[in-house]
Amino acid sequence: MHKTHTCGELRATHANQQVTLAGWVHRRRDHGGVIFLDLRDRYGIAQVTINPNLSKETLDTVTNVRMEWVLQVTGTVQKRPAGMENPKMPTGEVEVIANSIEVLNPAKTLPFMVSGENDLPDENTRLRYRYLDLRRERMTRNLILRHKVTKFMRDFLDEKGFIEIETPILFKATPEGARDYLVPSRLYPGQFYALPQSPQQLKQLLMVAGMDRYFQIARCFRDEDLRGDRQLEFTQLDLEMSFVQRDDILALVEELYTAMIPAVAPHKKLLSSPWPKFSYREVVEKYGTDKPDLRFGMELIDVSEVFAQSDFRVFQSAVESGGVIKCIVASGCADYSRKEVDALTESAKGFGAKGLATLAVTGAGLKGTAAKFIKPEEAEAIQSKVGAKTGDLILFAADERALVNKVLGGLRLIFRDKLELADPDLMAFAWVVDFPMFAWNEEEKKWDAEHHPFTMPQLDDLPKFETSPAEILSDAYDMVCNGYETASGSVRIHRSDIQLKVFQLLGLSGEEIEHKFGHMLEAFEFGAPPHGGMAPGIDRLVMLLADEPNIREVIAFPKNQAGRDVMADAPSEVEPKQLKELHIKIA
Ligand code: AMO
Ligand code: AMP
Repeated sequence: MHKTHTCGELRATHANQQVTLAGWVHRRRDHGGVIFLDLRDRYGIAQVTINPNLSKETLDTVTNVRMEWVLQVTGTVQKRPAGMENPKMPTGEVEVIANSIEVLNPAKTLPFMVSGENDLPDENTRLRYRYLDLRRERMTRNLILRHKVTKFMRDFLDEKGFIEIETPILFKATPEGARDYLVPSRLYPGQFYALPQSPQQLKQLLMVAGMDRYFQIARCFRDEDLRGDRQLEFTQLDLEMSFVQRDDILALVEELYTAMIPAVAPHKKLLSSPWPKFSYREVVEKYGTDKPDLRFGMELIDVSEVFAQSDFRVFQSAVESGGVIKCIVASGCADYSRKEVDALTESAKGFGAKGLATLAVTGAGLKGTAAKFIKPEEAEAIQSKVGAKTGDLILFAADERALVNKVLGGLRLIFRDKLELADPDLMAFAWVVDFPMFAWNEEEKKWDAEHHPFTMPQLDDLPKFETSPAEILSDAYDMVCNGYETASGSVRIHRSDIQLKVFQLLGLSGEEIEHKFGHMLEAFEFGAPPHGGMAPGIDRLVMLLADEPNIREVIAFPKNQAGRDVMADAPSEVEPKQLKELHIKIA
């Protein structure tokens, strides 16, 4: 070994011991002949003191040493003189008095500093030199946290009788609603593997195989538009259980998370235990989204009744065309300037609204864009209905129900950030259940599966396949936290007759069904146990635990926002010979 100790482990108890450290030069200071080098490795930083009485050769070496050179230092641990301790560093009680220094590798000047959080370059530069970016303490900490999360998951599930099983990456398309990544086959001209969008089919087949409790820290591949919480490849804790019902699965995952969070991120608090459970309908009506941030209130309130006879054209026409009028109350925002209200209106329009009506409850009566259209009795009724006090701003959206929810749900999050309504250390987990089974795809004039086509419809709703597919609820569920969808899952169809019904409603022809899913239907005919499962997204969870604004910060080598690996420069062109072998011509 090049070292006897790590840079982070030295304490006063090591005093007078001879040690050898190896690491990177984090900082270097010259103090009137005495040189101090902070030596860094993954475990921490040690102060190395170089006295001017060392050999000339050693001193010459030290004179040349620059930031981020890799050194091996041998010396004696000494307690720092009284008053010179650094309580901010775990190793701050001691220093290493060097007696020899060897340069293991010099370093060019780095394209950016890795010793602090300031002066960071743009993200593409960080990603181009990701191996340097990961030297930063924050990034190292994120990767360690991620390791702790997956280690905890593995240990916990092992205790509960789960086995980890790897499933293929070269497989066949498994629909999760995104585009597939295809891999051309050299051996079978014109044929392709698809990278799994998730191991969904395989884990169900493992249940048919009798594995009973499966999990995998699984990589998923989806060719979709990138966002802060989406990557082209990402990681799930994929799990599946046999002979269970919905609440067995939810209870297991809730127990896992409730035990894990204090163990891996002690500064995080759970908002509630047990976690609340909402129906899809309920969350959408209350929070305007199926992934609510529950760390603060500001619920959407339906006030259509109050304005049933309104003279306000905007409210009238919404009610007449079967829509609704809903509002949110922003506490203490009655004095917003015209400019601020205009900005909110622009945001509302960005979410699809035609406008935004406001009522400011001021000491001098009601103000705002809706004030002059509102009758005195309506004013009184609305204030008591929403519990508005002097100083509050009421914001109204009037339109078709889904749009109103979307607009106010979006504004609610704008207020969250503007007014800092959400405690960053709170983890507000909740379950959302009873999702619709199908969503009408207006563009393609067909039904889509809201979760995926293997999800069990609620059995009471089976007759609605013929009459009203939109009303069929499924046994699907999501875990949400702080405004993110952090997991989804469902009880699965284990009967081939129901599976066939679903495929048919989705508009798949007999041929397509056979071609895409024949193997699944066949498997279900050989004794499939009732089963279900879930897939928590690991990137999103670690992002929240690490207080990071996007999942790229918790992935060692992510793609940038344009979907490129800017370090290795991928995707990239390939040799004509390779294309030929794959029977591919670029059009
Ligand atoms: P779903 O497609 O909802 O379900 O994905 C489950 C969870 O994975 C995370 N996730 C993502 N994270 C980062 N980048 C992405 N592009 C991305 N897409 C999804 C989310 C999401 O909640 N097979 C089913 C699960 C099941 O039914 O058991 C599935 O994959 O946190
Ligand atoms: P108008 O009569 O179009 O000038 O609208 C009067 C006020 O109502 C303005 O503040 C608009 O922004 C607002 N408004 C217009 N359409 C809507 C709507 N669908 N929901 C809520 N407010 C609206």
